[in-house]
Amino acid sequence: MSKYFLTTAIDYANGAPHLGHAYEKIGADAIARYRRLRGDDVHFLIGMDEHGQKVEQTAAAQGVTPQALVDELAGVFCAMWERLGISFDQFIRTTDDAHRAGVQALILRIFEHNPDDFYEKAYEGWYCVGCESFKQDAEIVEGKCVLHPTRTLEWVEERNWFFRLSRYADFLRDRLQNQPGFLQPESRRNEMLGLIEGGLDDVSASRSRLKWGIPFPRALSSGETQTTYVWFDALPNYLTATGFPGGDWAARWPADLHVVGKDITRFHTIIWPAMLKAADLPLPERVWGHGFVLFGGERFSKSSGVRLDLDEAVDKYGADAFRYFLLREVPFDADGTFSWERFDERYNSDLANSWGNLASRVIAMVEKYRGGVVPAGASDEADRADAHDIAAYHAAMDGTRGFLLHEALGRAMACVTRGNEYVQTMQPWAIAKRDDEDGRRALDHVLASLVRQLARQAVLLAPFVPQKAQALWTQLGAPGAVLEQRFDGLASLDPTGWKVVKGEGLFPRAEKSAK
Ligand code: MSP
Repeated sequence: MSKYFLTTAIDYANGAPHLGHAYEKIGADAIARYRRLRGDDVHFLIGMDEHGQKVEQTAAAQGVTPQALVDELAGVFCAMWERLGISFDQFIRTTDDAHRAGVQALILRIFEHNPDDFYEKAYEGWYCVGCESFKQDAEIVEGKCVLHPTRTLEWVEERNWFFRLSRYADFLRDRLQNQPGFLQPESRRNEMLGLIEGGLDDVSASRSRLKWGIPFPRALSSGETQTTYVWFDALPNYLTATGFPGGDWAARWPADLHVVGKDITRFHTIIWPAMLKAADLPLPERVWGHGFVLFGGERFSKSSGVRLDLDEAVDKYGADAFRYFLLREVPFDADGTFSWERFDERYNSDLANSWGNLASRVIAMVEKYRGGVVPAGASDEADRADAHDIAAYHAAMDGTRGFLLHEALGRAMACVTRGNEYVQTMQPWAIAKRDDEDGRRALDHVLASLVRQLARQAVLLAPFVPQKAQALWTQLGAPGAVLEQRFDGLASLDPTGWKVVKGEGLFPRAEKSAK
């Protein structure tokens, strides 16, 4: 069994989970579930980024301690991920003691392996608390950070520990060029190569003004102890989650895949690999920089005030419908939009009218014509056509072309469409009227094929809509759980003798939305 360690970004503990957080977790969850169905030994890590000045300020504004704030938010995030069916194996928090110790160990390891990589330097500049970083002139418009126009920039002067990132430009360029799968999609790779060509500045690794964080493990020459700068605190979570520097951390490290948004791809493909290289540790295999989901056409963010209430979206048609919609509608390699209108349309056309309807019709026919027991039937044209879509489904999901979840879902839904066409063409109800042996055999064949198709669809769609896939699996009378299935068993899947159990409709048709 090959190990597959995948991670998402850890979310800032600065407010409730939003659409962007949910999109990323749902996408990564589909990949995790997909890998489990391949038979991999998956470890899926998510968590919270809990330090930093922003957290400190938010807590102060609410009159609570930073720890109380992050404790509460960790609970809120976890509850949302449970609700959305995110099958994480580990939830890391950067305030965990083990993480603190791991970050310090990593920094000391860099001091040990490359003593010149950290040096002291005085720094001054405009600092944006929203970004937790110094801003260049080009990033400042009318005295404000372009990404956080509601916040006031602060002029900051201090002496810090710096990390010699500039030294790693050749190494990073080489990695990006010679191992193209290291960063996908391709557009992000080109963007990063462009950044490297523009020259890499060294980055500060500690801060004096920051109190809420992990003590930097070496004092400055003045004797002052500073706090670890946010990215040096946050990025190592992927490594500290394995137990580093103790335990059997090397059994899990390096990560196979980091799933992150396009805004932080550079931290994951420039700073993070350089830190690991400096510490003489293996680099992650792949980074996937997904796009942004927009709400109602506006760039969705807290500061713009445009929010989608996640609970409201789940209440509407359930978690799986929301998962389906986001992953079908928003390409995982580009930006896309959430709108209530499109949600209603897709729910009705793809889920209620197409998949749900196919399932309920087929199950009803097996009950009516065969007393609920699935007859035997040889494979046919529908199986061969499905095999073609299934191959394309894997090509979109397995990483060779990246993680094109929308494409894979499209292929699975093509099988559903074919199933509906098959019913129309074969007209089982007409065959059922024939009262001869050939007619009985023909009906057996058609019903067996349809149940086989549905069972395959349940497995193919399980990474995306896990609860509904299981509900269908149960209604088909299939043995075990859908998540125990393996893709390589699909070609020989044989439902003969399964006893179908008609249940609730998978996707009850929606009334016209009031939204
Ligand atoms: N804490 C850092 C990440 C540290 S990783 C070592 C951070 N947190 S965040 O809460 O701002 O964002 C978490 C993830 O959500 C990031 O990958 C980010 O790109 C993603 N998204 C935030 N808004 C988004 C959208 N509107 N759409 C899709 N994903 C976006 O960055």
